[in-house]
Amino acid sequence: MSTPGEVKKAISNPFGPPKEPLPLPENDEILTKNALKVFDETPNPRHKFIFQNLVRHLHAFVKETDISTEEWMATIQFLTETGQKCTSIRQEFILLSDVLGVSALVDAINNPSVAGATETSVFGPFYTEDAHDVPFGESIASEGKGDYMLVKGRVLDVQGQPVPNATIETWETDGFGFYDTQYVNREVPDCRGRLQSDKDGYYQYRAIVPVSYPIPGDGPVGKMLELVHRHNNRPAHLHVMIEAPGYHKLITAVYPEGDPYVTSDTVFGVKKSLVVKLDILESDEEIKKYGFKHGPVKVLNQDFILLTEQQAAEARSKVTEANILKDTTFF
Ligand code: BEZ
Ligand code: FE
Repeated sequence: MSTPGEVKKAISNPFGPPKEPLPLPENDEILTKNALKVFDETPNPRHKFIFQNLVRHLHAFVKETDISTEEWMATIQFLTETGQKCTSIRQEFILLSDVLGVSALVDAINNPSVAGATETSVFGPFYTEDAHDVPFGESIASEGKGDYMLVKGRVLDVQGQPVPNATIETWETDGFGFYDTQYVNREVPDCRGRLQSDKDGYYQYRAIVPVSYPIPGDGPVGKMLELVHRHNNRPAHLHVMIEAPGYHKLITAVYPEGDPYVTSDTVFGVKKSLVVKLDILESDEEIKKYGFKHGPVKVLNQDFILLTEQQAAEARSKVTEANILKDTTFF
């Protein structure tokens, strides 16, 4: 413990006042200008651009909503609880970003659609790195986890050429709408697996028919959805992430048609091209041939089309150019 005699002066950071003094604000417009100006000396132009935009939009939000002190304190309390809900396996801030459509927008900007290539979808918080390697045609789900589904197709490039030895990670909930990680007694990964495409780009595995499920509702984000009378469901989907050397990593999901939530996904992940039709395996002979114990068996025939790193970078740079042109009118 220090005695008063040992107390040292509080130490400031090394930066002095701005070169030009800021006018003391006589109105809130000057206040906003000052709050923007204090970022003028930011050495990294991208940092300066982002922080000044943040201040500009936050100040506009405060003015446009005419927010009361109580409302602002409630907002801070909400963000505090959001942070407090986060653990190593629970990311409430990502959930907040998801339900506000921000995750989907960041994804859309960073992975713009390219004709012929599979579109992306939100990653979500339920991917794990410990999925087992699943040989061609085997099951990612243990018995009794849901209705049977066969998933098969090819990994291709936009010219239709096979992408061999691509690593395919896939994960889904069980038929009760829970990921394996949501069970407290989880011992081994389930309803998830890691596969490889073969030399001709083919892949095949057994899974279960996806079901719709609610995103975690026991935190501040869940409370917020209730406050505004929004449902918290995602339509049935199967997550897929594909990596292959020289190709841009594809993070996507497919959404079987007919789900009641397909047009109101609570995290805005569904794109038209990702809504898929499931077929049915007709004959007992085929059901056995593919390794299922009995019918009914749904079938998802799905090719995944990858972009090269260069194709993805070119598409991304067009978005950047367009946005920068728009942004020159900001200040
Ligand atoms: C998911 O699909 O796993 C998911 C995505 C966003 C929020 C919660 C879950
Ligand atoms: Fe999911």
